[in-house]
Amino acid sequence: MIFELQPANLGELLEAYRKPQPASLRDAADSVPEARLDQTLSCQGTRLAQVYGSSWERLAAYADRGEVTLFSEDYRSRQSLDGAELLSRFNDFRSNGRPRVPEQLALRVSSVEDAVLMADRQRIYREQRHPDVLNYLLEDPLRVNIFDRTATRMDTEKYPSVWSPSIDTDLFRLAAKVIIESEQLDHIRNAAEIGCANAAIARYLVDSVSTSHLLLADLNPIAITCARETMSGSYLSMTTQVGEGMAALDEHSRREPFDFVACNPPYLPRPARAEPGACFPFENSAHFEGTQLFEKLIRNAHQFLAPGGRLLLNVSSLAFDALAAADAVALDSGLERRLLFTKRVPVKVYEFLTDAQWQSHLRDSLVEKDGYLWQQLLLLEYHKP
Ligand SMILES: C[S@@+](CC[C@H](N)C(=O)[O-])C[C@H]1O[C@@H](n2cnc3c(N)ncnc32)[C@H](O)[C@@H]1O
Repeated sequence: MIFELQPANLGELLEAYRKPQPASLRDAADSVPEARLDQTLSCQGTRLAQVYGSSWERLAAYADRGEVTLFSEDYRSRQSLDGAELLSRFNDFRSNGRPRVPEQLALRVSSVEDAVLMADRQRIYREQRHPDVLNYLLEDPLRVNIFDRTATRMDTEKYPSVWSPSIDTDLFRLAAKVIIESEQLDHIRNAAEIGCANAAIARYLVDSVSTSHLLLADLNPIAITCARETMSGSYLSMTTQVGEGMAALDEHSRREPFDFVACNPPYLPRPARAEPGACFPFENSAHFEGTQLFEKLIRNAHQFLAPGGRLLLNVSSLAFDALAAADAVALDSGLERRLLFTKRVPVKVYEFLTDAQWQSHLRDSLVEKDGYLWQQLLLLEYHKP
């Protein structure tokens, strides 16, 4: 499945970035715009072949409606094919005498304005006449995420324990774009992505700005293997570290402090466990729970950032109290904080959605609507003058 997201109100976000903001985080959250991303979902390769492999004429009809695209192997370039072109290429796509749907041939199955999820099945089904087909297509373990000039590819069957890009990830890439364009960043000496998972954000950063050195850190060792795959072909000097993100920043910033640190951290506060540490060695060992990582990063940013450096983070309104306390420490240490934009999105953590006790812990900040539990994401920058 190919998930392609495009900024729908970039001009508004760039303008808001230049404006002064209220000092209080809550007031700032009420005053900055919401980001909007439009989404195109396409199915490809094996899954496409399973549905349309013996009905090329139907594919050709879709191609005549402008819905068929042939991507390059790295998904960075593409050409639109009309029906005649598609059929004339049967021979190129032939294997063992039968036409073969190539991995990079894609059919658009849905376009969503102002997406709030990577796969908003409820909304897509309203517009789609074949939910069974769509269900099958959405289960494709191959996930390609395209934003701007960056395309990252992840085989979720090969890396089941690694967080795969969600709507947060592309909102984060959008936040990075706002900073890069507003500040006209064209070079970063020392960058890091903490809690990188498949490194979709880091790849966007190094594709967009020439970067001398990149540190990638994650608690999950498999994530680091997956991240190396994402970074292949980027030809930059890179250090990877399995372990606690704050410790990695501490260690590396002693040699050279950081100009740009990105972290889309876990942000769901959880009630204390009966036996703390019994299941996991760190509070944040699961992808999505706990607030420790972002608290530590915000509180210590003045130490690991170089003058002029910035920390970019994504935190949920569900963790507002922990965020506000860490924010006060950062401002006291001389950092400047800017809220880039907000976005209301549903919580999509199944463990949370099936845990009534965990939900009741956050009941004051959760909003229930349209069958989803909603949170507000805050995309934040801390800058060391
Ligand atoms: C919400 S996922 C975000 C992944 C990725 N950056 C993205 O946006 O798609 C959070 C990631 O942080 C990692 N993580 C959680 N706590 C961590 C910590 N204390 N140090 C390093 N990595 C951590 C998790 O293993 C997970 O891969």
